[in-house]
Amino acid sequence: MHDSIKEKFSRLFKSSGDIVLVRAPGRVNLIGEHTDYNGGFVLPAALRYEIVMAGERTTNSKVSIYAESMKEHVSFSLDKIEYDKDVLWANYPKGVIFMLKERGIELGGVNILISGDIPIGVGLSSSAAIEVATALLLKEVSRFCLSPVDMAKLCQRAENEFVGVRCGLMDQFICCLGKRGNALFIDCSTEEYEFVPLPEKINIVMCNTGVSRELSGSEYNRRREECEEGVAVFRRAMPGIENLRQVSLSDFEGLKTHLSPTVQKRCEHVLSENERVLEAVRALRKGELSQFGRLMGESHTSLRDKYEVSCPELDLMVEIAGSFSGCIGSRMTGAGFGGCTVNLVEQEVVRQFMEKIREGYLRRTGIEPEIYTSEPCDGAGVV
Ligand code: GLA
Repeated sequence: MHDSIKEKFSRLFKSSGDIVLVRAPGRVNLIGEHTDYNGGFVLPAALRYEIVMAGERTTNSKVSIYAESMKEHVSFSLDKIEYDKDVLWANYPKGVIFMLKERGIELGGVNILISGDIPIGVGLSSSAAIEVATALLLKEVSRFCLSPVDMAKLCQRAENEFVGVRCGLMDQFICCLGKRGNALFIDCSTEEYEFVPLPEKINIVMCNTGVSRELSGSEYNRRREECEEGVAVFRRAMPGIENLRQVSLSDFEGLKTHLSPTVQKRCEHVLSENERVLEAVRALRKGELSQFGRLMGESHTSLRDKYEVSCPELDLMVEIAGSFSGCIGSRMTGAGFGGCTVNLVEQEVVRQFMEKIREGYLRRTGIEPEIYTSEPCDGAGVV
């Protein structure tokens, strides 16, 4: 795939031959959902699906980008980077370039071709991958320094402030720091992280419900506000706290009657999910896979009943997976309201698992599900 992208780039932009190629993977979260923006714990892995970006510096101050999957071309001047409400995908690279400039980094003009195979809009973070690939490409062609953690944070800022989605740090972080064979345990308060090896005989399988995540933007922001409402209530008794990470389950028990019923449920999810991530990491390190799977199941139930971000199709997908004996664990992954489930499946029965999901889901919904498999892969890099 990589060579043909260089060729396409040459044809498209009449290159002089000094083409830089970078890749940035999609991600799946194994456990720890809706905890990142609450300063909590997450455990994602980078996937083999990736955004590949080719680029070359020009002698002017213009940025030209062609997105292969959209068959669309945008160009703009580095001196005038504005949100485009008509070409939404372009706001991801634009936002990153905007933030790099904000940081005082000197940039030159660049031609960019965006390609890759991350399924778009199904919750596997194609947008974070586009952001990270843009940052990395610009870093290569304009030769500046930026650590992977700072790159992740800059990309998150682009998404928060330029694109207008109040996402947490997880997606950009795993995209920058993923490591082959490992999941990444991230403490979103301290930004410290540890690699946790995933056994080789286990495959990660993502099952796409085919339900579009239309609600996810508005409901996502609403969930964030509800968590902030919770923090404001706890703060009355616990001055100075900034997020739900600083609230223990026993603080919660003591103060929960001050919360509205909805906010109570949201906080309960976040606090218990953080505990589950810690337990899940312990289980994985000890090779206790069935324990890990049980925690994935509890995470799903909590997201369904307490955080209310699942949907009937995700629940059904998890139910079908649960009746398959080689499936270690299954849950919705990402923001919710559609998109994919994540499943850990014993390698030797992956085919049978996929067939069972396909047949069961098709029979009960009339939708033929797309199913993707991956092992944990490396984070973004120059090709
Ligand atoms: C989206 C966001 C992440 C995270 C998840 C939910 O993927 O981009 O930051 O909040 O939802 O866990």
